[in-house]
Amino acid sequence: MEQKERESWGSRIGFIMAAAGSAIGLGNIWRFPYLTGMNGGGAFIVIYLACVFFIGLSIMLAELTVGRRTHLAAVGAYKTNSKSWTFAGVLGVLSGFMIMGFYPVVGGWSMAYIVKSFTGLLSNPAAVGDAFGAFIGDPIQPLIWTVLYMLINVYIVARGVTKGIETAGKILMPMLFGLLIIIIIKGLTLTGSSSGLSFLFVPDWSVVNGNTFLAALGQAFFSLSLGMGCMITYGSYLNKQEKLPQNALIVVTMDTCAAILAGLALFPALFAFGLEPTAGPGLVFVVAPQIFAGMGGFGMIFSAFFFLALMIAALTSSVSLLEVVVAYLMDERKMSRKSAVYGTSVVMLILCVLSSLSLGVMSKATVLGVGAFDFFDILTDKIFLAIGGMLLAIFAGWFLKKEDLRDELTNGGTLKFGLFEAWYIMIKYVIPVLIGIVAFVGITSIAQKGLMIFGLLVIVVLAAFSKKL
Ligand code: PHE
Repeated sequence: MEQKERESWGSRIGFIMAAAGSAIGLGNIWRFPYLTGMNGGGAFIVIYLACVFFIGLSIMLAELTVGRRTHLAAVGAYKTNSKSWTFAGVLGVLSGFMIMGFYPVVGGWSMAYIVKSFTGLLSNPAAVGDAFGAFIGDPIQPLIWTVLYMLINVYIVARGVTKGIETAGKILMPMLFGLLIIIIIKGLTLTGSSSGLSFLFVPDWSVVNGNTFLAALGQAFFSLSLGMGCMITYGSYLNKQEKLPQNALIVVTMDTCAAILAGLALFPALFAFGLEPTAGPGLVFVVAPQIFAGMGGFGMIFSAFFFLALMIAALTSSVSLLEVVVAYLMDERKMSRKSAVYGTSVVMLILCVLSSLSLGVMSKATVLGVGAFDFFDILTDKIFLAIGGMLLAIFAGWFLKKEDLRDELTNGGTLKFGLFEAWYIMIKYVIPVLIGIVAFVGITSIAQKGLMIFGLLVIVVLAAFSKKL
């Protein structure tokens, strides 16, 4: 074959930082705290952790295995096995587009808030909520930030796997953990912060229902970057010496730590200041500045640090989302990296404009009951990722040879992986059934039924036309 040699990660730590960078993002710092707040705290965290370690970890391993085995990004990896499976990869690419239809908007907000930390945001704590509402509803301001944010993504991804994505991850991830720890120490020293700790760690089971499980499962997939071929793509750049099980465990653990750290950074201080934990998606942007405003002169610096951390985390994730689509266009449509990056980001930017405007001037323009922002968010988080993960499990468990999987996971038999049989049973039987149940219970108990049915229809139609994709 006259193919160019495939790019690969420059070093082990480079891969881990990039994969952890993909996983750790707005999902951990923006969404995990507000979901925890809205779903009652500790109980949600316990269910979330169960989803992460029982389902997420096995799927992470499966994605990396499939990616490295085929050395192809999501669509190609499925397609080499059978064209009837192409749709599962295409669903991933579609999810990538849709997540990138709102993610850079929130990334742009965090960039804006770094600057706003110094320009009076904290001077009137009571007005922070209204200021946030006015800011995200503005037709121009957030768009400028979204474009800026997107340009940084384009710059990184256009530079390629090692020079761009890997370098960014290696520098930015350690910085993020450092920043979070500084904020936590500050928050824990406030009087009254201990009720935040009990909110986080003492489960109240009375608040749990079908929705809680779907929220936790969706969040596990979103946060670990699973169910859309991202880890297949990153796995495809891994060399044959890497130990997959160990790498999967490290990435999952780091992601979980980042979420818990974000919770620890917010809730103790939030309770210390007597604020409400149920603020929803505005939690970070409304509550955090109020917390910082109460910290006196250093508040501004802490606030800027915090939003910088948020932006950094978002960046290493959106870069991976963009990479999924770019890798598909390079592998399957033979486009050059640069034109794939430019073309893709223009489309994503258009979706972002719709999302951003849906929070303000276009709030009346709804499809199936929701605006563009929620449309992309709910469809991916509540349906596409979980079903994408389920499809991957079925694909690996039932359509790939068990011996091939064992060979890949043990590096051709040179590596011991004692849990292989247990993992295989999880992937083949347990996970498809579990996701099926949670998806069914969740989807039937959710408010946006029309949207759910639409999402499932999209998957069915893609599957029906799989061979033509
Ligand atoms: N995991 C990222 C986050 O937590 C989001 C993401 C989802 C990235 C899916 C890639 C693929 O913010």
